Amino acid sequence: MKITPLSPVGGAEITDIDLAQPQSAETLATIEKAWNEHLVVIFRDQKLTAEEQLDFAGKFGPMGERGTPVDRRVETDDYGGAIMLVTNKTDEDGNYVGTIPEGELWFHSDLSYQEIPHKATMLHAVAIPDTGGNTMFANMYLAYDNIPAELKEKLAGRRALHAYDFAMTERYDLDNGLDNIQNCRQPIFIKHPDTGRTALYVSRLMTALIEGFDRAESDQILNQLFDIAADPSIIYEHKWQTRDLLMTDNRCALHARRDFPKDQLRLLRRCTVKGSGALTAA
Ligand SMILES: [Fe+2]
Repeated sequence: MKITPLSPVGGAEITDIDLAQPQSAETLATIEKAWNEHLVVIFRDQKLTAEEQLDFAGKFGPMGERGTPVDRRVETDDYGGAIMLVTNKTDEDGNYVGTIPEGELWFHSDLSYQEIPHKATMLHAVAIPDTGGNTMFANMYLAYDNIPAELKEKLAGRRALHAYDFAMTERYDLDNGLDNIQNCRQPIFIKHPDTGRTALYVSRLMTALIEGFDRAESDQILNQLFDIAADPSIIYEHKWQTRDLLMTDNRCALHARRDFPKDQLRLLRRCTVKGSGALTAA
């Protein structure tokens, strides 16, 4: 197994390993250490069935269940909710068979609108377009470091409302109320349970309101934080290769997708690993 960092702010490539085979405790510990250090690890040239992918993900904790409400699920075989297809693939009637099929997707952390978000998201590249569709990963430890001191002070100990409407690829409009969407409050600055480091935990797609401020001031502060979190200097942009198996840490990295041509197939098979508890404030 060889580990090669892909950028100074995140992302490491892991080669010379076949994840379809059982891995020793030592190898798994080395992978987890690299993941904690680089936030995103990419295993190249894997060819895993859904069962093999779930098997490998299960080494890092219990499987997460996708957040999509049952009535919005389109895949017929999703392994009890453990597998989600992120794809623009269509069936014979021209209907999408997967989730978030097209277009740009704003920065977010998977399931931040649930009290115990899933710690890891694992994506296996089955089909990749010739151009576009890169995924950007933003290092939220560095985002925290880049927040001006007086703003850090102003936000210390505060929480923010996270909400997500599955029908949308943009931020939820709070004027529509919270009755029909999943939502919860999360600390703005979290202490990563494994590394102990402080990370900014807000995202342009899912963070709707900072507690203790009116909407206008909250929006003004959030926009400032979203810009800090999207600064190119803290982003690793991943250009997918077919057969990549990528694992990202939802507690310290946001991810966003670039647009890609509608007429080209893109299919990522996603599963997640549950977090061990609610996130704690830094
Ligand atoms: Fe996501």
